[in-house]
Formats: sequence, C-alpha cells, structure tokens
Amino acid sequence: MTQPTPEPKRLPVHVGIIMDGNGRWASQRGLPRLEGHRRGAERLIEVVDAAIDHGVRCLTLFAFSAENWKRPAEEVGGLFKLGEWVLRLHLHRLSKRHVRFSTIGDITAMPEFIRIPLEEAVAASKDNTGFELVIALNYGSRQETVKAAKQLAADAVAGKINPDAIQWDDLANRLETHGLPDPDLIIRTSGESRLSNFLLLQAAYAEIVITPTYWPDFGAEAFGAALQEYAKRERRYGMTGEQIRPTTQQS
Ligand code: FPP
Repeated sequence: MTQPTPEPKRLPVHVGIIMDGNGRWASQRGLPRLEGHRRGAERLIEVVDAAIDHGVRCLTLFAFSAENWKRPAEEVGGLFKLGEWVLRLHLHRLSKRHVRFSTIGDITAMPEFIRIPLEEAVAASKDNTGFELVIALNYGSRQETVKAAKQLAADAVAGKINPDAIQWDDLANRLETHGLPDPDLIIRTSGESRLSNFLLLQAAYAEIVITPTYWPDFGAEAFGAALQEYAKRERRYGMTGEQIRPTTQQS
C-alpha cells in the first residue's frame, strides 16, 4: 500500500536524494555491480513518479559525483550507458507529465552519447512547469562553490559588485541551483550518514532522512515513508520551539 501524502504545509517543496547502495545490493546477491546500477536506474523513475504523485515540486538526484570518476572505467561507462537508456526510455512520458529537466555539474566532461541527449532533453522541456527534475552529474558542491566564488571575485574586480556589500544571495545566485528553492529534505539510502559533497550550502536548513534501504530497493513506498518522516520534523531555523509552534491557547 502506498503511503498517504502529508498535508501541504508538511510536504517538502524540494527533495534531494543521495542514491547509494547499488554496489552492496548487487554483491549481496552475487551479481555484478552494474546490475545494481541497472536496478537503481529503474527505481529512479519509480521515485520520480512518486514525487510527482505526492505533489513535491522539485527533485534533485545525485547520479554521478565529481569524485565518481575514480571508479573503474568499465563501471563509469556502464553508468553513463544506463543514464542514456533511462533517459531515452522515459523522457517522452515524463514530458507528458510536464517535467522540466535540468542538470547540475559539469556535463561537458561527459561522453557525447549521453551529453547530447541530456542537452536535448533540457532544451525540449524548458517551458514545462509541472515538476523540476534536476540530475546532478559530475557534480560536487565544493567545485560549484569555487566556481561561484570565482565569478563573484571577477565581478568585484570588474567593479560590478562592491565586495563589502556581498550577501548570501549574491553567492547563491551564482550557484548552479540558482532559481531553485533550497532543498527541504535530503534523503540518503544505504544507511550512510554523510552529505558527500552534495548541495552543502543549499542544504543548510534541510531535514536529513537516512534510510538503511539500498537504493535498488528504495521505491515509491519508501519515498512516501521518507515524506512521512519529514512531516513529523519541527523545522526551527534557529528559533525556539515555542516561537515556531502555532499557539493553541487562544479562546
Ligand atoms: C551509488 O551506489 C550509486 C551511484 C554512484 C550511481 C547512481 C546511479 C543510478 C541510480 C543509475 C542512473 C545513472 C545515471 C548516470 C543517470 P554505489 O555504487 O556507491 O553503492 P555501494 O556504496 O554499495 O558500492
């Protein structure tokens, strides 16, 4: 049975997911790691559909980190092939669900067979307004921050911005996520309790849900359970519990 949707004010607008555990899922079953990634790629689509069905507005999926190039070339190539396969198979249907598709990370370093379909998908869906699907590919939060800091420094040198007047928004507007709301919820599968260079600045006030489930077993039901867990959390943004809880004593 699928989980109920939390009431609107308890529903995250933007969810980020660190999809982890594909390798362990495969090795538990005596399967090659790529089989874990293949099953993980199928789950990815199931979770996108679940997010849309629950009324979440934006989903950012950490599909390939800037550090993942250190993996064996065969695994890296296999991951990109899976990415291209999943895109080709589901793009049309996702487009019918009004999904706007974008990427964060440096995709210029990726092979053409995936980079070109990705760029085409971004261009073809740019006017869709139903749901934002952001795929983090060759992404690292520190790399993104350095790039934004360089832009700020260049603008300061060019006299376009006064260094003393720089505010958080000036940096945030130069991050790759500019225009997107900050994530309200970050989910990490496979029980690891790390952010692993994912949306470090944007997640400053995000709630974090860690689930022991390996990504290939994390489907619509588990996503719904994570939303339920989020709905129970009290977000304080530095305030006291009394300040943020609505008063119930008025007569
Ligand atoms: C982490 O599992 C998962 C990844 C590094 C890749 C996630 C990719 C997909 C779900 C497939 C879609 C691919 C693209 C490029 C869109 P792990 O291998 O780190 O698992 P382990 O920690 O158990 O070894």
